[in-house]
Order: sequence, then structure tokens, then C-alpha cells
Amino acid sequence: MSVAIAELMAEHGSPLYVYDLETVRERARTLKQALPYADLQLLYAVKANPCPPLVRCLLEEGFGIDCVSPGEVKHVLNLGADPKTVLFTENNMTDAEMQQAIDAGVLINCGSLDRLERLAQAGAKQAAVRFNPDIGDGAHAKVLTAGPLTKFGVYYSQVDQVKAIENKYGIQVIGCHMHIGSGILNADVYLDAMQVILSVAKQLQHLEFINFGGGLGIPYREDDKPIDLEKVGNAAVEMMQVFCDGYGRNIELRLEPGRFLVGEAGTLYTTVTSVKENPDGRIYVGCDTGFNHLVRPCMYDSYHKIQNITHPDNPRKTVDIVGNICESGDVFARQRDIAEPQLNDILAIRDAGAYGISMASTYNLRPLPAEIVIDGEDIIVARPQQDIDELLSVWNKG
Ligand code: LLP
Repeated sequence: MSVAIAELMAEHGSPLYVYDLETVRERARTLKQALPYADLQLLYAVKANPCPPLVRCLLEEGFGIDCVSPGEVKHVLNLGADPKTVLFTENNMTDAEMQQAIDAGVLINCGSLDRLERLAQAGAKQAAVRFNPDIGDGAHAKVLTAGPLTKFGVYYSQVDQVKAIENKYGIQVIGCHMHIGSGILNADVYLDAMQVILSVAKQLQHLEFINFGGGLGIPYREDDKPIDLEKVGNAAVEMMQVFCDGYGRNIELRLEPGRFLVGEAGTLYTTVTSVKENPDGRIYVGCDTGFNHLVRPCMYDSYHKIQNITHPDNPRKTVDIVGNICESGDVFARQRDIAEPQLNDILAIRDAGAYGISMASTYNLRPLPAEIVIDGEDIIVARPQQDIDELLSVWNKG
């Protein structure tokens, strides 16, 4: 991407999210190639980043969408997603939300037995069920989504109860799903969980697809090893082939990553607003964004590479890089080695394409940044910087 970031920031404001569509496309194709399976349907977990050009790009690449809320469902249907490949992986949804999803024609992936029962009682003929395989993994305890300490899914050992609901109401469970966590770099854990899910799937009569979820990690740190995609892909395909032989017919294979597709495509650019050296020698580099725009470091102690793109050749310095939010946890990096930042330098916070803007808030009444999408020579302004008056206009007057 040879785009003049400083010019973009002058036009669209600082801080600024920039996404490279070519990276998204490349990740999408890499994933497809890693899964040489005839009945493959990949989905994109849109919670990672709902920015429309990214979603459209993935729809064009043949992806369906995994959603978790009525807002996400409406958003992706507006963008042209086919309801048949939209999966609503619910979590504590309301009955009203369930009805909206039924009306929209999207399949509900039930995360509890009582939801499956209420879906059947509402007259639905088909459902998917998210199972908890009792094996979870992830980059942080807060992103682990399987095992006893998580709220997600029906325990794999409760499959008989799922079958009882099928028999009682005539609803067919056509999808068997897992999602064990996020930021997984260890292929083996993923494969172990897949085996558990296949042992559950074997017991269901009406399956059309098996969905191994998302969770594929990306290398945030310089020394992180990317997940062995070939190993995951080959093993998944092989397991599915063996499964289908035993099951007696072909079953679609689904995966639904978010981060893997968009994480590395995004950068949050910010401007240095203050450089302060304390008497103890500690240097704080303050910038014009904070955990309101990228909460990952604060929420999960996540590491993001940070580069000084204005003065990349400055001598290296060890500094703390902090935001402009009125909280001491508003820290992007502690004791980070970086080309010494000067006032007004632009810092690039890398790998911010997933769970950056989608988790952003207007805390401290700071507006959301603009989102720019680069597609080769094309520059798409996906969202202008939020206007402060618009931000304040949500309250009733008086
Ligand atoms: N499928 C389901 C049902 C999910 O809940 C998620 C993510 C995904 C797929 C996609 O996971 P991915 O491939 O992106 O890891 N905010 C956290 C991550 C939370 C993920 C929530 N669910 C972070 O910034 O690391």
C-alpha cells in the first residue's frame, strides 16, 4: 500500500483507521486453498469488522456471514448477503430477536437447549446447535469460548437432549457447530476439539453442515508463529471425508473466521500529541486516540506492533505509548522499543483490522475516527470521522 497516510489524515482527520482490501482478498483465498473440500462454505464473522467494503469483498469471494445480533443480520442482508448462508449464532437472544431472524429467513444457531426448544415451539423446522466440546483455547482467558467457565454452547455430552427436542417437535438440527476461542495459534487444540464435534455430529440424523467456527490466530508479535494453516486445513478435510463415509452422505464443511481475514489488513494511525519524560527517566508518548478506538491492549493485554512512520530512522528509544482517555489503563504499549517519536509524528498501530472499530466507543465523548479502505489505486471513504455535534445529538434536548 503506497498511500500517503499524512495526506489522508489531513483530509479525514486523526486518528484514522485504514484497511487494505487486497490483504483481505489474499487472506480469503489463502483460506480457501487450505481447505480443498468440495462442499466448502466459508463464513465471515462480521463482528470482527462490519465495514461495508470489507464485507462486500468477502461476499464476492463467496463467503457467507456469521452474525450474533439482529443489527449484524440486517447489516449484512442490506449489503447483499444471501440469507441461506447467513448464520445467526445467537447468545442469549430474546424471543423477539428470534422471531425477526425467522422472518428474515436466516438459520439460528442455538447456544442453549431452552433456545432450541423455543425455536421449535415457534414453528421453526430447522436449526443449528452450537456445542461446547469442553476444549477451549485462545490468546486470553476472556476470549476462550469453550470449557466449563464459558457461557457458550450446549455441552457435547448433552446431545441426547438435543435429539429429544428434535423428536418431540420435529425440528431438524441441520448444523453442528463449535467455536472454541479466539487467537488460536496452536493447531493441535483446534483439531482435538474438531474430533469431539465430529463425535457429536455422528449422533445427529439430519445434518447438512458441520461448522468448526473461527478462532484462527494471527501473528501479532514479531516472534509469533502463524497457525499451521496447512495442518488445520488438511486435517479438517481428512476428518470430514472419514466422517462423511461413515455418515453415508456428503456434509458441507464450514469455518467462520473473523480476525484471520481482516486483522492484518487494518492499521490505526494516530498523531503524537505529547512526549513527556518523568524524573525517573520513563518516557510517555501520548497520542490522539485511546482505548475508545482500540480496546484490545487494555482489555486483553494484547500486543500490537507500533511504528513511527514519520521518522522511521530516528534512533530507537524505549517508551510507553499511551492514549488520551482519562484512565490509567489507557496504554497501548509499555516499554516499547520504537524509532523515537517526536511531537506530531504519526504512529501506525498495526493489525488493528479485527475488533478495532467494531469494539470502539465514544467514551469521554470522543468521536469515532474515519475508516478508509484502500483497494489498489482506489481510496474508499467508508465512514467519515464522526461529527461531535452528531455525537451529542443523541440526547433529548431540555
Ligand atoms: N464465530 C463465533 C461464534 C464467534 O463468537 C467469533 C468471535 C468468531 C466466529 C470469530 O472469531 P475469530 O476468528 O475472529 O477469532 N474481541 C476479541 C475477540 C472476541 C471474539 C468473539 N467471537 C479480540 O479482540 O481478540
